[in-house]
Amino acid sequence: MLKTEILSENKKEDIARAGEIINSGGLVAMPTETVYGLAANALEPSAVSKIYLAKGRPSDNPLIVHISDISQLEELVSELPQTAVLLAKKFWPGPLTMILSKTSKVPKETSGGLSTVAVRLPANETATSIIEAAGVPLAAPSANTSGRPSPTTFEHVYNDLNGKVEAIVKGKASAVGLESTIVSLIGKPRLLRPGGITLAQLEEAIGEIEVDSAVLEQMDENAKVRSPGMKYTHYSPKANITLIDASPDEFISYANEKGDFVLCFDEDKDKLTVPCVSYGSRYSSQEQAKRLFSALHELDEKKAKNVLAIMPRKTGVGLAVYNRLIRAAGFQVVNPNNHMIVGMCGVTGAGKTTVGKIFEDYGCAVVDCDEVSRRPDVYDSECIRELQAEFGEDIAVEGRLDRRLLAKRAFASEKGKTRLNQITHPRIIAKCNEVISEMEMSGKRVIILDAPTLFEAGLDRECARIITVTAPEELRVERIMQRDGISKELAMARVKAQHDESFFTERADYVIDASGKLGLEIQVAPIAKELLKAAGEVNA
Ligand code: TXA
Ligand code: MG
Repeated sequence: MLKTEILSENKKEDIARAGEIINSGGLVAMPTETVYGLAANALEPSAVSKIYLAKGRPSDNPLIVHISDISQLEELVSELPQTAVLLAKKFWPGPLTMILSKTSKVPKETSGGLSTVAVRLPANETATSIIEAAGVPLAAPSANTSGRPSPTTFEHVYNDLNGKVEAIVKGKASAVGLESTIVSLIGKPRLLRPGGITLAQLEEAIGEIEVDSAVLEQMDENAKVRSPGMKYTHYSPKANITLIDASPDEFISYANEKGDFVLCFDEDKDKLTVPCVSYGSRYSSQEQAKRLFSALHELDEKKAKNVLAIMPRKTGVGLAVYNRLIRAAGFQVVNPNNHMIVGMCGVTGAGKTTVGKIFEDYGCAVVDCDEVSRRPDVYDSECIRELQAEFGEDIAVEGRLDRRLLAKRAFASEKGKTRLNQITHPRIIAKCNEVISEMEMSGKRVIILDAPTLFEAGLDRECARIITVTAPEELRVERIMQRDGISKELAMARVKAQHDESFFTERADYVIDASGKLGLEIQVAPIAKELLKAAGEVNA
């Protein structure tokens, strides 16, 4: 066992000491903005070999070379495509790693015997100052023993590597929380590992990027592996994790019944009766990224054995969160009810009805929640009594609701609106659930709830996915005018009375652009397929 030196990121002499250790062939764990890295001189085969030993890492899994200045690319990379220059300008320093052709200066120990090299210029100043102090590029994988969740705090590193490395530089918790995005620029640009820089950001900079199948799916053992790291069971805590693909409410009831430990979102914490660890808000992939690995470490500390985890969204940074969590779960996914309830929302006039019809062509069912909410049997005698107590006896005559009068009274004040919703929403939801059951009885597995007020009604809690349909405002106003035969002013007023489009897109798993620029069919087809597959349709 080594005597591990604990160095501080705030002391100049400690940074210099870190450089010295690296120069004499030793290993130093250091903070970066993604995760903590375990650094050695990338150009020194014997130093790099120590990394593999300390981590217990298979030697065919190459390392990322960290630089502190773009000029260092010259000795590492034999060819610099224009796309690499663009990406470096835009995203360095930062959580992006590029795969490029290597020079003979990069030893095979660093490149895992490949003809390419992975390079990154980190944004964390402690990391770059250590690279400068060492005066050489640093090979640095995540500072964890192989297969364990990557470390995002000094404590994670200390608990895992104390006694196995020469030094650990103590810094703050990692700002991004997941390892860098890896993009290969050998031939057509290809995303090998999603991370803090999103696919959309990369595509905006250099155009279309292929997503390697390993990003979303389990690698076939015989398949050609483009990023060797993706084939190993990664990120796994000691616990056995199962990912639950269900709506928030379905997840809670399933977890309360079956779970002995739960990995959940903040919003659901209070409703869980089993021990749980939360990893952020349902709608903030960024926060989930930052907290996921810490949450996995916490599950280990709490000695969790079987963990049920809620499925994260795959949009933006969410793709990286999903990619890590599905690996932590060894690709075990359970859909407890073998269906997918999907909310479809968006501002009025965007084109939901048309989109719904296309989903129906693919075998999905669409429920018009507005229509369901107007069904007479939603308003049972108890409901009518409650409404009368709140809004006056005369809003119903002989058990029949005077909708106009009710609306007039209820919409007169915020409080009235709230009370109306409190009384009617649970009943509307119950009715929607009845309709969902009927649809399921008739063999439908993907049920789309067309509900303009999905969130206000609380119906989002019944949905495992959210679809948002968008269109530019002028177009929506025009559609409303035509559809309802009303003036431009009235149509505008209706549009303004609703949430901004961003309210919906921020909460969506899928955004469908109904502006007419892109065909609807071509957008709906892959979504329908994915939903049918997630719902367990074998032929999807
Ligand atoms: O954020 C990060 O990238 C962190 C910090 C420390 O910088 N490092 C990191 O390293 O995540 P590591 O070793 O845990 O992951 C490196 C990944 C592996 O999946 C490896 O297979 C892939 O990069 N890789 C390295 N060189 C490659 C190459 N030439 N071609 C394809 N994939 C490569
Ligand atoms: Mg790693």
